[in-house]
Amino acid sequence: MSGILVLRIPGMTTTHSAGTAAPAGAHGGATVAIDGLTMRFGERTVSQDIDLTIGAGEVLSIVGPSGCGKTTLLRAVAGLIPPAEGEVRIDGRTTAGTPDGVAMVFQHFGLFPWKTVEANVAYALRVRGVAKKEALERARELITLVGLSGFEKSYPHQLSGGMLQFELLRIWQDHPVTMLFVTHSIDEAVLFGDRIAVLNGRPSGVAELIDVTLPHPRDRSVLADPDFLAIRERVWSLIMGADARH
Ligand SMILES: Nc1ncnc2c1ncn2[C@@H]1O[C@H](COP(=O)(O)OP(=O)(O)OP(=O)(O)O)[C@@H](O)[C@H]1O
Ligand SMILES: [Mg+2]
Repeated sequence: MSGILVLRIPGMTTTHSAGTAAPAGAHGGATVAIDGLTMRFGERTVSQDIDLTIGAGEVLSIVGPSGCGKTTLLRAVAGLIPPAEGEVRIDGRTTAGTPDGVAMVFQHFGLFPWKTVEANVAYALRVRGVAKKEALERARELITLVGLSGFEKSYPHQLSGGMLQFELLRIWQDHPVTMLFVTHSIDEAVLFGDRIAVLNGRPSGVAELIDVTLPHPRDRSVLADPDFLAIRERVWSLIMGADARH
């Protein structure tokens, strides 16, 4: 599943963080340090020894073959599942649970097709212990942030994943935040990313970190830029290579 992790949104106050907003927010997002991270489910090691640093206001795209642990990595950074080894530090602090100002957004809110977008997002917060009223407030803020206001009462099948992408780029340009962006679309990864982490192998690790040297602001015209095409080709070859070894 594709997903986006948004870290510390400047000017976005939640009931939780009101009055105690971290100063880092004023600098366009949190820093993330992923240090020697190993993720396991039972006996199975999904990812091993991942080191990544994401700067304040940076967008790191994460790509890799299906099942390589992208969503697991996102969930670990969001504090939803604990590392087997290593750690994740957000603004220098080791995460235990989901810190304030960190939100995970699934591109397809398809968890419960019978719940509205708002109810799905609120549910994800509620299972993490957020009180009902606050969960709804935070869900609405999040929906506005990703450019989906007006769709609160829509059902997941009424949204297209693509609706998010250019909206998100626009929002990011207006309010730089730190983002970890997991996608199956290599075009999206290049379009959004300041860098791209390509994961591969079993267990997976960071095969390559690619700098996306395309200038901002970016729009659709970037899709024809020779640098864009070269980076896209590089990512493809890394992913295909990884698959070929399995
Ligand atoms: N809660 C869990 N319990 C056991 N195994 C899990 C759990 N979550 C994920 N896995 C396994 O860990 C591996 C990595 O899963 P993950 O969802 O992180 O991959 P992914 O890279 O996001 O894949 P995709 O591209 O298909 O979304 C998979 O083999 C998956 O079956
Ligand atoms: Mg996934």
